[in-house]
Amino acid sequence: MIMILDIINKKANKYELTKEELETIFMGYLNNEVKDYQMSAFLMAICINDMSDSEVFALTDIFIKSGDVLDLSFIDGIKVDKHSTGGVGDKTTLIIAPLVASCNVPVIKMSGRGLGYTGGTIDKLESIEGFRVVLTEDEIKNQARDIGLVITSQTKDLAPLDKKVYALRDVTATTNSIPLIASSIMSKKIAGGADKIVIDIKVGCGALLKTMEEAKRLESLLIKIGSYYQKEVRTIISNMDRPLGHNIGNKLEVLEAFEVLKGNVKGELLNLSLDLASKMVSMGKEISEREARDEVVENLNNGKALNKFLEFVRYQHGDIDNLKTDAKVYNIKANKSGALKDINALAIAKLSESLGAGRKNKDDTIDYNAGVVIKKEIGDEIKEGDVLASLYTNIDNPNFNLEGIFEIS
Ligand code: URA
Repeated sequence: MIMILDIINKKANKYELTKEELETIFMGYLNNEVKDYQMSAFLMAICINDMSDSEVFALTDIFIKSGDVLDLSFIDGIKVDKHSTGGVGDKTTLIIAPLVASCNVPVIKMSGRGLGYTGGTIDKLESIEGFRVVLTEDEIKNQARDIGLVITSQTKDLAPLDKKVYALRDVTATTNSIPLIASSIMSKKIAGGADKIVIDIKVGCGALLKTMEEAKRLESLLIKIGSYYQKEVRTIISNMDRPLGHNIGNKLEVLEAFEVLKGNVKGELLNLSLDLASKMVSMGKEISEREARDEVVENLNNGKALNKFLEFVRYQHGDIDNLKTDAKVYNIKANKSGALKDINALAIAKLSESLGAGRKNKDDTIDYNAGVVIKKEIGDEIKEGDVLASLYTNIDNPNFNLEGIFEIS
């Protein structure tokens, strides 16, 4: 009989744990035999003393086996999934999914709601009037066969242990452990039935990882876990000191993704979307990234990706023809002149949440119309009185905290 305190002590004293020990403490936690305070101490010991590769593989396996594993073999072709470690204004899934599907690589994605400053992909899609995010398995199969693109909320209980551990990590300052992040991400992707996985690792003030060194370590662990499960993993490390694109907030992000697919947006959001989509198409079709990029760019330019997006939204009953934000608009004006040096992602995220676009607790309701639209680019010459951003909210007499958002000098 392994004692929980012995396991915690062993990690606190920097010894490597066996799979059996990890299973005892983690499954015990899922079954409510191990208490929150014990798991908190254990997670903190992991944060401080790290995990060996074999501990990480064992933990990933325990997370996967704690719930259902999706079987997507009914869909022909290689199924490539994409994950982002999370960023402000990150709406790339809405752009990439139709881009990739328009190149005849199937995209069947189970996404989540967001907890934190902004919504998740499911919240963003739900901001489209009528859009159905809850689909039955038969509906998913039919839609996958008909149009090769489905984005739905989880139908099965995938990696429930990760969900429980993540909720505790969120409130015990144990989110930024790289082995815990790696096993959390990979267990969900593998349980979700992916054959191959592309991961966008965000680094910067608005991301979980603050330094390039941390991002590199996570990258190497994700690839190692992938090869342990014989699943190819490719990664991109992208900047999250600044928000991605101009719009932050659920419906505003759908609107911006729509504009990208119409060919009306250039810059970092488009470039990152093309990079990620090219990796997915390259892996799905087993062609070079250069060939894949040519296809992706062609389908953006010839309107096939846009048509796939429209087909997908309509298939899931979304009213894409009447997509507009319904909120009061307040303009933030520059209080001095100079060059725009920085737009702080974290400060924008907090502002967006205060306008109603995010949720602090999982049962909070989101105002889909709320958010921020940034009107200027880094490097722009700003004159006092210029509009820097428009804020959308339905909160009466809102009290905005604009501190630290725009650096002008
Ligand atoms: N994303 C996840 O899914 N899990 C983590 O632990 C961090 C980011």
